[in-house]
Amino acid sequence: MHIIDTIYIDGAFVTPRGQDRAPLFNPATEQQIGEVRLGDADDADLAVAAAKHAFPAMARTSPAERAAILRRLHEAVAARAVDMFEAMVEEYGAPSGFCGFAVHHAASLFEDMAKTVETYAFRRTIGRAEVSMEPLGVVAAIIPWNSTLGFIASKIATAIAAGSTIVIKPSEMSAIQTQVMANAIHAARLPKGVVNIVNGYGPVVGAALSTHPDIAKISFTGSTMTGRAILTAAARTFKRVTLELGGKGPQIFLEDADLATAIPIALASGFLNSGQACMAGTRLLVPESRLEEAHVRLKAHIETLKVGPATDPEVQIGPMVSQKQWERVQSYIRLGLDEYAVLLTGGEGRPDGLERGWFVRPTVFTHVGNQMRIAREEIFGPVLCVIPYRNEAEAIAIANDTSYGLQSYVLSSNIDHARQVAEQLQAGRVVINAAPHEPLAPFGGFKQSGIGREYGAFGLEAFLEPRAVLS
Ligand code: NAI
Ligand code: MG
Repeated sequence: MHIIDTIYIDGAFVTPRGQDRAPLFNPATEQQIGEVRLGDADDADLAVAAAKHAFPAMARTSPAERAAILRRLHEAVAARAVDMFEAMVEEYGAPSGFCGFAVHHAASLFEDMAKTVETYAFRRTIGRAEVSMEPLGVVAAIIPWNSTLGFIASKIATAIAAGSTIVIKPSEMSAIQTQVMANAIHAARLPKGVVNIVNGYGPVVGAALSTHPDIAKISFTGSTMTGRAILTAAARTFKRVTLELGGKGPQIFLEDADLATAIPIALASGFLNSGQACMAGTRLLVPESRLEEAHVRLKAHIETLKVGPATDPEVQIGPMVSQKQWERVQSYIRLGLDEYAVLLTGGEGRPDGLERGWFVRPTVFTHVGNQMRIAREEIFGPVLCVIPYRNEAEAIAIANDTSYGLQSYVLSSNIDHARQVAEQLQAGRVVINAAPHEPLAPFGGFKQSGIGREYGAFGLEAFLEPRAVLS
């Protein structure tokens, strides 16, 4: 049993004032594997006070000093890659390929931010004004459970790059992964109070941070509904906010796409992180003329995908994080049937041979109308919608007919053609074919997928405030 009964405040692991305890589960077995003692609003206050105390010294550091701190964090996190991988497999259950990426990504985020700090123009002259980019104060980060290591890393890295201090409220479902990360951060020997981590429930610790007068900025990743609550709470004190919210990403198969290669690529992004990914491409827009071929290839490729526990290295789709999330995904599969979408493969219940664990059958609905709820709402599981289109203009219109706009995909055998379509999509990122992640490029959403951008110079700038001195 993992008993996690401390939080990290002012450079030390301390017992929370809060008395609540939450069970921790292995989602592949449904067995309880631990318990976390949660912080409360008093703990949030103590963490904010520590971060506030550490802020002035941090704000005075030079870019070179910040880059050095970031490199220390990079090394400390990379040194714990094995522990992080094991914690992620046990507590979250993502396929081992994704866990491997996530652990590497968490470490490299610090190195990427070090590079950004070294090249970013913190001072510039505009006419007679000397403009300096200043840290805006203590930052709070509120993060979800679907990529805990990377979210903690990216928010800490950006805060430090800006010269800020930070309080992090992770998901209570990720306490084991959080603990491994906290140990790594502690080993990097940062000045006390620069990084503080308070486990706790959203409506308790998250809400306390969202209204706290000493918090200048909130960086949130999670659902659109909670993002709206945080934005509303933050408005009272005009906190700056970066919100990275949900998605319902379209994947447009252009007429010239080679479906033999495009379908496996599209399923990899559709089922990314077992479908628990804001950037997943969950609406497959297929030309009517290619619909039959797409059906055959989708079914055939999905039959080759292995669902199961991440301890099996061949598994490509793992369980949902919790029973609640499993039930939520099941309810969307039932909804698809109620909406008279046609079930191409998958359906309700667990995959054959998996009696325990929060596993979902990889599911594809076809003949889906873009107005159906399964095409409009984020399901956050391995459930995809095929939406047929008649011509390219209609495909682009369907792609953009959504309240979201995070990450879209274009699949084509002609890169120029794909770029022309990409430029008509309302999305913060458009991925053409199997293009890899670009770590310094901005990431974030149009419309209700969020506010602001993360990563690289765009991400850093969202943690800064310009000051112009005129003389
Ligand atoms: P959530 O958005 O409620 O949770 C994310 C974080 O916000 C957690 O740390 C939570 O404790 C905190 N939080 C919750 N209520 C809060 C409040 N009132 N004030 C401040 N912080 C608060 O997501 P949840 O409930 O875990 O998942 C529900 C659905 O949200 C999922 O099924 C999925 O559709 C979506 N989701 C989207 C994510 C994304 O990356 N876009 C990540 C996680 C969930
Ligand atoms: Mg919630």
